[in-house]
Parts: sequence; C-alpha cells; structure tokens
Amino acid sequence: MKIIFFGAPGAGKGTQAEIVSEKLSIPAISTGAIIREAIKNGTDMGKSAQSYIEKGALVPDEVVIGIIKDRLSEKDCENGFILDGFPRTVPQAEALTAMGVKIDVVLNIEVSDERIVTRMSGRRTCPGCGATYHTVYKPTEKEGICDKCGAQLTIRKDDDPAVVKSRLETYHNETEPLKAYYDKLGLLKSVEGQEELADTTALTLAALGIK
Ligand code: AP5
Repeated sequence: MKIIFFGAPGAGKGTQAEIVSEKLSIPAISTGAIIREAIKNGTDMGKSAQSYIEKGALVPDEVVIGIIKDRLSEKDCENGFILDGFPRTVPQAEALTAMGVKIDVVLNIEVSDERIVTRMSGRRTCPGCGATYHTVYKPTEKEGICDKCGAQLTIRKDDDPAVVKSRLETYHNETEPLKAYYDKLGLLKSVEGQEELADTTALTLAALGIK
C-alpha cells in the first residue's frame, strides 16, 4: 500500500504513521525527520534547509523532491510506503506523479489550530531514534528518557510557540490546497483527530481498512 499522511503540523501524522508502518511492515518516510537528521549531521543539504525549518517555512521544492526520489528508490519501498509530510505543495504532488508513483490513499487528519498549539507544547522527541512522545497524551515510562533507546528526550526547536504559529500559517496557505487536489482524484479520506491518541488510531485504521 502507498499512503500519504496529510494534515497540519502536530495533527498526529508521525504518530499514526509509525503505528500503520508497524502493522503493514512498510517504511514510514518523514521528510521532516530526514531534514532534521541532515541538520544534525551538518551536511550541505542540512545547512541550506536549517533556516527554513527554524522560521517555520517550507524547504524549497527541489530539495524535498530530491530527498523523496532518493528514498523511494531504496529496496524497502518496493512493497509500499507511507509518506509523512510529503507532498506539501502542488509541484511536489506533481513531481510524485512524474516519478510514476501511484498513491492508493491520502489520509487527512483534521485537528483545530487551537488544539495543535496546546499539543505542541507537550511534545518531546528522541534525538537518538526519532520516537515522539507527549508529556500528557503519550508519556514515557521514565520521565524525559526514550522508552525505545534510552536517550534523553529533547524539545524540537520548531515547537517554539512563535514558530508553531508560522508553521500553521504556512500549512493553511501552501499545503492545505492539496486537500482539494487529492479529493478531485478520489484519493482523500479524512478523520477527525481525537483527544486520545488510541481513538485517532482506531479511526485511522478503519479509514484505511486495516484490521
Ligand atoms: P515535519 O517534521 O514533517 O513536521 P510537521 O508536518 O510540521 O509535523 P509534525 O512532525 O510537527 O507533527 P505530526 O503531524 O507528525 O504530529 P505528531 O505525530 O508528532 O516538518 C518539519 C519542517 O520540515 C517543516 O516545517 C518544513 O520546514 C520542513 N519540511 C518537511 N517536509 C517538507 C516538504 N514536503 N516540503 C517542504 N518543507 C518540508 O504529534 C504531535 C504531538 O501530539 C506529539 O507529541 C504526539 O504525541 C501528540 N499527539 C498525536 N496525536 C494525538 C492525539 N490524538 N491526542 C493527543 N495527542 C496527540
């Protein structure tokens, strides 16, 4: 299955993508995570992307299209994949089609801006393995320590409230129009993001027809 997880920053795309990835044994590919890794490693791509991420702006299309092209050519994508955070613009969606990728479903998670702002303040991420937690909704067993790899959790720089505001503006202006794009193609399915993570998972799996 080839799935796009779509939604505003903090809607829960990454959280649900991780669950579906395990269930279907297909990779979940987050352009955001790939870019953050490049920034951490100080690569040329990371250096050029850093200022965009820190402002809450989109990284230029040609950069993210190149990332996806490379990643989808890897062997583990042969039986399907989940795209988390790509595409975010119409040119990115068109580039995906031009690569010959046939998407089965675009799963859109709807969450209000107000709820997103509250949620982001509690997000904690693992710099070691990339796992995501929430101080209230998805706490770790040991406070501040990743359940999976034992690393000290951190707060993403772009989860600063001012940057979250700008990421939401970017989403509404540049990415949200893709909903109509995929709806026209008959690929869009929407679920309402719930207060409890497990409730969103149940809706997501049902929408994707996964038992
Ligand atoms: P990216 O890393 O993709 O960030 P994002 O889309 O802004 O999404 P997030 O990772 O912030 O949130 P999410 O929806 O995955 O939510 P999560 O599951 O973590 O991109 C970062 C930046 O990279 C962009 O701003 C841009 O600069 C650049 N970039 C990336 N892709 C690009 C592209 N294609 N083109 C151009 N630029 C690109 O959940 C959030 C929190 O809420 C967590 O703490 C979680 O535990 C909690 N939570 C989740 N679900 C629930 C629930 N139902 N109830 C309660 N809490 C919940």
